[in-house]
Order: sequence, then structure tokens, then C-alpha cells
Amino acid sequence: MASTTQLRALRASLPVVAERARDIADEFYRRLFGTRPDLLRDQFNRGDLAQGRQQRELARTIVALAQAVLDAAPGSTRGEGADRHRASSGGRPSGGDAARQAGAPTLAPATPGEIVSRLAQRHAALGVTRDEYDLFERHLGEAFAVALGPDLTADVADAWAAVYRQARDEMVATVEAIYRQADLEPGDEWREALVTEHRVEAEDVVALTLVSADSEALPRYRAGQFASVQVRLADGARQIRQYSLRGGHDEQWRISARLLVGEPPAPDGEVSSHLMGELRVGDVVSVSPPIGSLTIDDLDDAPLLFVSAGIGCTPVLGMLDHLARTEPDRVVTALHFERTPERHAHRVELEALVASMPNATLRVSYTQGSLSALSALAEASIDGPGVYLDPIDLARVDLTASHRVFLCGPVPFMAIARAALIGHGVDADRVHYFVFGPDDGSVTGADTGQGGLG
Ligand SMILES: Cc1cc2nc3c(=O)[nH]c(=O)nc-3n(C[C@H](O)[C@H](O)[C@H](O)COP(=O)(O)OP(=O)(O)OC[C@H]3O[C@@H](n4cnc5c(N)ncnc54)[C@H](O)[C@@H]3O)c2cc1C
Ligand code: HEM
Repeated sequence: MASTTQLRALRASLPVVAERARDIADEFYRRLFGTRPDLLRDQFNRGDLAQGRQQRELARTIVALAQAVLDAAPGSTRGEGADRHRASSGGRPSGGDAARQAGAPTLAPATPGEIVSRLAQRHAALGVTRDEYDLFERHLGEAFAVALGPDLTADVADAWAAVYRQARDEMVATVEAIYRQADLEPGDEWREALVTEHRVEAEDVVALTLVSADSEALPRYRAGQFASVQVRLADGARQIRQYSLRGGHDEQWRISARLLVGEPPAPDGEVSSHLMGELRVGDVVSVSPPIGSLTIDDLDDAPLLFVSAGIGCTPVLGMLDHLARTEPDRVVTALHFERTPERHAHRVELEALVASMPNATLRVSYTQGSLSALSALAEASIDGPGVYLDPIDLARVDLTASHRVFLCGPVPFMAIARAALIGHGVDADRVHYFVFGPDDGSVTGADTGQGGLG
């Protein structure tokens, strides 16, 4: 816990740090990769770094962590409860003014624990070592010194170091808990998996089946979880991405990836291109244990509404598959949005799962245009039903106050859908969402964010 002196220094320096957070993040990554180029090659997402997304996310997180420490401090007017409206276990409660001034995210997590919990899930499969945390701390300190110059007094440096150490300790503890749950030792996180099926499922979508490459089966997963997949690319780099586990047999993992088409001059996404074009049956990839706390099996038995778009169908398929096997009578509505029938991956699977559940209904809508581009039109109606939902009309869904909703699709799509659902009386606490990329906090806001996976 930060001392009174640290809290005072933190509060006083937060505006200047928020203003220069992006400079801090840029400087930090320059230094980190200067010392450890292997981290850029084998652990960090090179594409996101080239696009500045990772830097933006770190900048946002630095500010949000500090704001959250201040909000949680005794005497804060925003501590317990004030300005907090929990969104979901994968979502973002409200954050701080400094974060908004930093030009990023309209809304960010409220407590260090909530921020750290999501980060820990992203870090759990990376095998981060104690040395790397120390390196992180050293370069972050240096980056603060460069970006803040004389504004970085000894008290200010000490206060920000305390924020970092608190986040680090919580993150390490959460990652350890994830390992314990998965019955893993640190350093034991990667397994080899054999590709037994490689099928072009729809336009730009490849469906893969993976089994253990050794005698021990791949770990069981819970519906809604994902795993990291690490592949070796043509230049020798080992890049890691996450893919939702789509359901099926326990000893097999099924994942589907949509090719991320780059916006020129940016190239197409590295790993999705590799999975689509290079990987073959018989190849081996490395996989992390299943990760993710946003699962349905430990929630109540409320009626469910799944709203998905594009490749956001994958966690929904995983959850429907689980429900069809364990609770076939569950009341479920699935709304799926895709641009065109040709792009609709797993339609047959989706229809079969819904057909096997007597109280489940499915509505599919083809928008004909980009799911992401529609957000611009929808922004005007953020307080009411968004244009995304117009073709289906939420009024026809028979929503009740007890419905639980899971959203998965491009961030702008989810922001619109969430606002529309709340407009139709669904409690924000019951709207959960899966984010397929750096979360800029915009699901709970009206920001258009990135939505390349539609
Ligand atoms: C929890 C979770 C679950 C997910 N589940 C799924 C799923 O089920 N299915 C699915 O398809 N995806 C899923 N994703 C997304 C997935 O992890 C990847 O983000 C996605 O496949 C794109 O990765 P990529 O390597 O192809 O693109 P990246 O290489 O990561 O590309 C990212 C961006 O960088 C740009 N870029 C790449 N290289 C360069 C360069 N050299 N210079 C400049 N710009 C560059 C690209 O154009 C793109 O805009 C999930 C993500 C998360 C976090
Ligand atoms: C308290 C310390 C740390 C903080 C606050 C932090 C913060 C972050 C943030 C904000 C992201 C982006 C998350 C997202 O995309 O949603 C991230 C991703 C990442 N971090 Fe950390 N990090 C910390 C420690 C470390 C350490 C020590 C390493 C090891 C080198 C590391 C490696 C990574 C990698 C590889 C990613 C990319 C994940 C991906 O998108 O594939 N982090 N981190």
C-alpha cells in the first residue's frame, strides 16, 4: 500500500505523467528492446508494436493503475463504490479523469486488482521471469526520467515505483494462481500440439484441430477460455497470439483464426497469415494452458443472450457446445452478425448446436458492409439502439432483467451493442464481453477503437 507521502506525490504528478505517458511508453520499449531484442522477436507482438498499439496500451495502463491507487486510497471520494459500475469480468469498470486527459480510453478499470487480473491473464502464458520484471522496472524508471526531466523528483520517482511494485506483486500472485489452477509449475507453461486438421472454413478463416504431441493429453478447458498459440515464422521469430477454444472433444482443441488483412502499407497479420497459409496437418505449434476467467459454468442459470460478430463467433461456439452437452434446456438466444454468407464461419456448427437445444434460438444477420465501419454510423445513436442491432431489433429478443449477455466482436461493435442492451433495460453488470486484442477501454465508451477482426 502506498504511504501518505507517496500518495501525495502520485496525485501531484499524475497530470504530467498522463500528459507524457505515451513518451514514457515509447522510451520504455526502445530501451527494453535495445537490451533484449529477443523479447521483440519472440514474446511481444511485433505488429502491434509497429502500429503503436502496445505503447498506447502501456501508457493507458500506467495512468489507470495510478488513478486506481488514488481512487482506492482512504479518504478518496471515489474509493468504495463511487464512480464504479462494474462491467464484467472481461470488461472495464470506470476509471479516471487523468486517463481521459491522456487522450485514451474513455473508461478504464477502477481498482488495481481489476486491471492486474486482466493483465495477468494476458501474461500467464508468456513465462515472464523475475529478472524480466526487474528489467521492466529499471527501464520504466529510466523512461520516466527521460520523459519527465526535472519533474521527476525523488518523491515522485518513489511514488511511481511503489505503483509498479504493487502491480507487479499482484500480477505475479495472480499468474501463480492461474498456474496452480492449471496444475502447472512456472516455466512449464508451453506444450507442443500437433495439427490434425487444417480446413478453410469460410472466406479468410481457417479451422484447426490440435491434439497433444506427446503422451499426455492437452489440458481440459472451460467454455469461454482461450489459449496462446506460438508459431515459428519464416524469419525465425516465435510470435504468440491468443485463440478462443471453440468446443469439441476434451482431448482435442479446436480453434479458428481469421486472416487479419492489413491496411496498406501495413502487411497482413503475421500469425493469422501463418496459420492460414503456412501451417499444415502434421506440423507442431506450442500452446499455453487454457486461460480466461470469463466462463459460463460458474455463473447463475439465467437466460443467455450471445451477440457475436465475425470471428467473434468462436467463444460463443465454445459456450454453446458446453451448454448443449451439460444444460441442453437452457434458454439461449444467439444473434450473429457477419458481412456476407461467404464470410460466415461455422454456420453449420452454430445451427446444429442451437437446433440441439429446445429452448435456443438463432438469428443471423448479414450486414454486407464492414462491421467496424458501421460504428461510425452508429456513434450518433450510442445512447439508443445502434444500427448494428436494427436489422434484428432487440425488442424482438424478449429480453428480461435477468438475462446475461456475452458479446464478442470488434470493439466498436461491442460498444454499440452494449449501449443498445443497456438502453433495453439490461443491467450493465450482466453484459460481459470478450476483447480480441489490446483493449483500449472503449467497449464501455463510444470510442471507435480498433476492429480489424470483423
Ligand atoms: C482472448 C483472445 C481471444 C482471441 N480469439 C481469437 C479467435 O478465436 N480467432 C481469431 O481469429 N482471433 C482471435 N484473437 C485475436 C488473435 O489473437 C490475433 O490478434 C489475430 O489472429 C491477429 O493476429 P496476427 O498475428 O495475424 O496479426 P498481427 O501481426 O498481430 O497484426 C496486428 C496489426 O499489426 C499490423 N502489422 C503486422 N505486421 C506489421 C509490420 N511489420 N509493420 C507494421 N504493421 C504490422 C497488422 O496489419 C495489424 O494491423 C483473440 C485474441 C484474444 C486476446
Ligand atoms: C507490472 C508489470 C507489467 C505491466 C504493468 C505490464 C503491462 C502490459 C500491458 C498493458 C500489456 C498489453 C495488454 C493487452 O494487450 O491487453 C502487456 C502485454 C505484454 N507484456 Fe507486460 N506488463 C508488465 C510486465 C511484463 C514483463 C516483465 C514482461 C516480460 C518481458 C511482459 C511482457 C509482455 C508481453 C510479451 C506482452 C504482449 C502480450 C500480447 O499481446 O501478446 N510484461 N503488458
